[in-house]
Amino acid sequence: MFFTEEFKQILKQAKNVFVLTGAGISKESGLDTFRDVDGYWAKYNPMELASLEGFFDNPHLVWLWYLERRAKANAASPNAGHLALAELENLFPLFDLFTQNVDRLHHRAGNKNIYELHGNIFENHCLTCGLPYFEDIDIEIAIPHCNSCGGLIRPSVVWFGEELPADILSLSFTKAQNCDLFLAIGTSAEVYPAAQLPYNARNHGAYVVEINPNETSFTKFANISFRESSNIILPEIVKLIKDLKKYD
Ligand code: APR
Repeated sequence: MFFTEEFKQILKQAKNVFVLTGAGISKESGLDTFRDVDGYWAKYNPMELASLEGFFDNPHLVWLWYLERRAKANAASPNAGHLALAELENLFPLFDLFTQNVDRLHHRAGNKNIYELHGNIFENHCLTCGLPYFEDIDIEIAIPHCNSCGGLIRPSVVWFGEELPADILSLSFTKAQNCDLFLAIGTSAEVYPAAQLPYNARNHGAYVVEINPNETSFTKFANISFRESSNIILPEIVKLIKDLKKYD
């Protein structure tokens, strides 16, 4: 991979790195994305599977989909892209990883400063009283209900039309505006408010790098785009940074 001198200088000088990841980084771990031609939303209606209305209409169907995805995420392993981000965290004084993914693969890869913008697929809570729910779920036996108030139990992910966790969202904007290097990895940058983050970083002077095999609506605002799979390019970037640091 050829890296420009400008990019090398940016890597050398960066002290405060913000990473935003999306479903694309987990693609090489065998997990589907949403908006690619073979992604979930090419096959299914997001409003049926990932909205409160859809859940009320057919909780059985929604649970089926989430339990299947939970099993897939459990069976998947972090790929070279996730592992490279875990290494990257140790190469800069400040490093934050905000993910739209719910698969917990960044945790399993070893990153520490992880913020989940869209929740995670492994936890559940009561729709009515908010209490967490820890019991095993077998929807062929019954749709789970809260032991305390009887409300419906739902997966602890953020659905369309719902607000993101306020503390994490607010922190993400503060950090995006203060970073000097922003990496947007494997995201179509179509879903707001997360999609706003790279624009904010750029507007506040950060150097913004896009890593995505395909062009996105954000591409023309990025300082540089690598049209590569993240599991290929991220290890190369880590190696480059280590080489650059040798000659500091
Ligand atoms: N490496 C890097 N990027 C990839 C790879 C890969 N190997 N394969 C695909 N991609 C890119 C695609 O080109 C696409 O731009 O990953 C992106 C995935 O985009 P989406 O499917 O829209 O996923 P994401 O951006 O995470 O979606 C945001 O929408 O419905 C939801 O809640 C869900 O968190 C998700 C949100």
